[in-house]
Amino acid sequence: MKGEIDDLSCFSHLSKATKVQEAFKEASCEIREQLLRQGAIVLKGIAPSRDARIFEGIMNSLNFDLRDYVGGSSPRSTVKGKVMEATRTPADWSIILHQEMAYVKKLPEVIAFVCVEPAENGGNSTIGDMRQINNLTKESSLNLLQKRGLKLRRTLPSEERVKLKPGVKKSWQETFSTSSRLEAELICKARGWEYEWNSKDLVLWQDTIDPMRKHPITGASIWCNQAHFWGATAMIEWAKLDNRKGDIQELTKAQKENSNLLEAMCFGDGEPLPDELSFELFHMVRGLESDVHLNSGDILLLDNFQFSHGRRAFSGNRKNNVIIANWGK
Ligand SMILES: [Fe+2]
Repeated sequence: MKGEIDDLSCFSHLSKATKVQEAFKEASCEIREQLLRQGAIVLKGIAPSRDARIFEGIMNSLNFDLRDYVGGSSPRSTVKGKVMEATRTPADWSIILHQEMAYVKKLPEVIAFVCVEPAENGGNSTIGDMRQINNLTKESSLNLLQKRGLKLRRTLPSEERVKLKPGVKKSWQETFSTSSRLEAELICKARGWEYEWNSKDLVLWQDTIDPMRKHPITGASIWCNQAHFWGATAMIEWAKLDNRKGDIQELTKAQKENSNLLEAMCFGDGEPLPDELSFELFHMVRGLESDVHLNSGDILLLDNFQFSHGRRAFSGNRKNNVIIANWGK
């Protein structure tokens, strides 16, 4: 395990406040300033925040504009209001560092996790300072990506075919919270996403994005995409890290025989990234991982442009809730 981040701010005094949300309102300027400056902070021991309504109230007290997760790729469901379970990705999977929904143009600007129940073994959150990537990317790779842009091709199988898909299994019905093809199409159109039906599967072309984005407040140019995350090469590397032998076999087979069911990270013109580039980017981002151990009632607050997040594999129960948001006023 890598060293824990030691410069995260603690606000443990807030747990002593009888009215937690008012206490957060009072501290909101300080917390927002620290979040913007550091990119990541931990609010320690806020036991009431395990209650979804109070967690949502805290985020509102911090003046964030809370968002929904329609179109997101992770298997998760809503707990209450804008509070979602962090993920239903199986326990023996780690989660590779990523900025939430960084495959669309209007990604969330802020993400907050609350630890409701820590894992018995493993399950640390991981975070990575994406500002460092500017010094790590090969100039030739960055130039290539900036010239051609990035576009994620997602295959969302129908419910009856979702089990055939290697890796993360999420149907279009679950992704769009509907069983109506028409409604799914309307959501795609409303968000400006290109789509096509491949038999019963929905093939979704996400936005064409620049690999570097402007931070919504500071204007700094930051690596903000998921080029390292998708595609068979990255998925196989990920499965190897977790020692998921079945997944490695399933993915390798699908890569050769049924690649239509797999996601592909493509250049802006739809051509998939070469395997070597996916491999290079996967390991570059992975090198940024740092562990953050969250105890019950701890909140991890991240600037979704400046910091990526992930998770170690674990055993036993583990429950984290999440809220995505924009900075708001
Ligand atoms: Fe995430």
